[in-house]
Amino acid sequence: MAHETCRADRLRFARQFLRTPLITAAPVPSSAALAACMVAPIPRTGDPLVVELGAGTGAFTVAAQEVLRGRGRHLAIECNPEWATLLAERHPSVEVVKAQAHELPALLDRPADVIISGLPWSAYWPEGQRPLIELLAGALGPEGTLTQFSYSWSRWAPPARRQHREFDAAFEEIVVSRTVLRNLPPAYVYYARRPRG
Ligand SMILES: C[S@@+](CC[C@H](N)C(=O)[O-])C[C@H]1O[C@@H](n2cnc3c(N)ncnc32)[C@H](O)[C@@H]1O
Repeated sequence: MAHETCRADRLRFARQFLRTPLITAAPVPSSAALAACMVAPIPRTGDPLVVELGAGTGAFTVAAQEVLRGRGRHLAIECNPEWATLLAERHPSVEVVKAQAHELPALLDRPADVIISGLPWSAYWPEGQRPLIELLAGALGPEGTLTQFSYSWSRWAPPARRQHREFDAAFEEIVVSRTVLRNLPPAYVYYARRPRG
């Protein structure tokens, strides 16, 4: 990403984080190093359906597009209208939808091969909606993979432990990455496969 774009996105994040800290959930966009870990499960052949949730200003969108190179379908969901517009302008080949993540099932015509989630896990979810983990597991095909990142500083706090239990209950296989130090703050990635049920 060009230096100027990168700086502008950092400013966007800082401003938005001050306005809606629980929804934005990060003071700066994710790094290229974290993005590389998040998109690693995208198949290198065929026409996969890749879903990105909480796409923000596109840190993972760029990385996913580099892997896809015109293959498959890339659906990016973002609830912030300004950022959804920005993403659509930057990535004409990505299907950008300004929506809430819980609207995902209505946007799919088949199970996803990969779901890349930049959503804040515990901070924001509308009451009365199907739990996020169920929604994600239900939207994946049997061979699909979900990636979700979390920040290392909160790894042993109760919300992160609850997140781990939820992943464990919903998927037969979960792999947790090493800490990605080249991200602010350092983060780790869940790779969840084989949704139960
Ligand atoms: C931690 S940021 C991640 C942004 C980007 N993926 C990155 O890593 O730089 C979380 C993003 O999720 C979006 N978001 C939060 N709750 C959402 C929801 N319920 N539905 C869709 N997007 C949501 C926020 O607007 C924000 O862009």
